[in-house]
Amino acid sequence: MTPPFEMRGGHVRRDGRDVLRGVDLRVAAGDVVAVLGPNGAGKSTLIKALLGLLPLSGGSTAVYGVPPARFRDWGRVGYVPQRLPMGGGVPATVREVVASGRVARRSRWLPALTDRGADRAAVDRALAAVGLAGRDRDTAHLLSGGQQQRVLIARALAGEPDAFVLDEPTAGVDATSQLDLAGTLGGLVAGGRTVVLVAHELGPLAPLITRTVRLAGGRIVADDGEAA
Ligand SMILES: Nc1ncnc2c1ncn2[C@@H]1O[C@H](COP(=O)(O)OP(=O)(O)OP(=O)(O)O)[C@@H](O)[C@H]1O
Ligand SMILES: [Mg+2]
Repeated sequence: MTPPFEMRGGHVRRDGRDVLRGVDLRVAAGDVVAVLGPNGAGKSTLIKALLGLLPLSGGSTAVYGVPPARFRDWGRVGYVPQRLPMGGGVPATVREVVASGRVARRSRWLPALTDRGADRAAVDRALAAVGLAGRDRDTAHLLSGGQQQRVLIARALAGEPDAFVLDEPTAGVDATSQLDLAGTLGGLVAGGRTVVLVAHELGPLAPLITRTVRLAGGRIVADDGEAA
């Protein structure tokens, strides 16, 4: 089966510094990978480069076997960034932000055939999964930091992707919401979804993890899953 993500010799330079130095990482379907490491180790850089959100200065990366620049099936991938790209600009409601997670699923050729009922149901499920069902009309960027993080998680869930990439999804999120997230991800993993997540503290997510990759100084210094 084509692996959801595969980086070979991945190298990234930012501001003239090497922040990713020759990373090989193949994530198989159904893996639940925890990417660990100290601040500045290159975890977010790795995640973004894996998805083609940052250019590689060396090596290659593929999403479901295709270089990110040529990949077209973004509905298969849900990404939760570490920091909010919202705020500023036009104020969006929680529902609007979460619904934007459905956009990549639309047919490029037949957008009119989009099933509004299915969209709405998926958005409602995602909002309920992060405990924000009652806050869907709130302005997203006026929510607390932890609530905004949960909105971003809901946006990824709403897209019903095959693979989730989450950059510190539990940072600043309260214990109950972390348990909710663990339950939600547990269900998705049981259904065969792939998860790559960055964390400093795994907390309730720990039992889900099938593989741990440790980064330091832009290199993988430990990986307990390569043999599996
Ligand atoms: N926009 C940027 N421009 C230039 N350098 C950057 C940029 N973002 C990050 N870096 C540098 O890249 C290195 C790795 O950063 P990265 O954000 O990947 O670390 P991280 O492991 O995710 O850390 P954290 O645990 O704090 O999130 C750091 O040295 C950082 O200074
Ligand atoms: Mg980071």
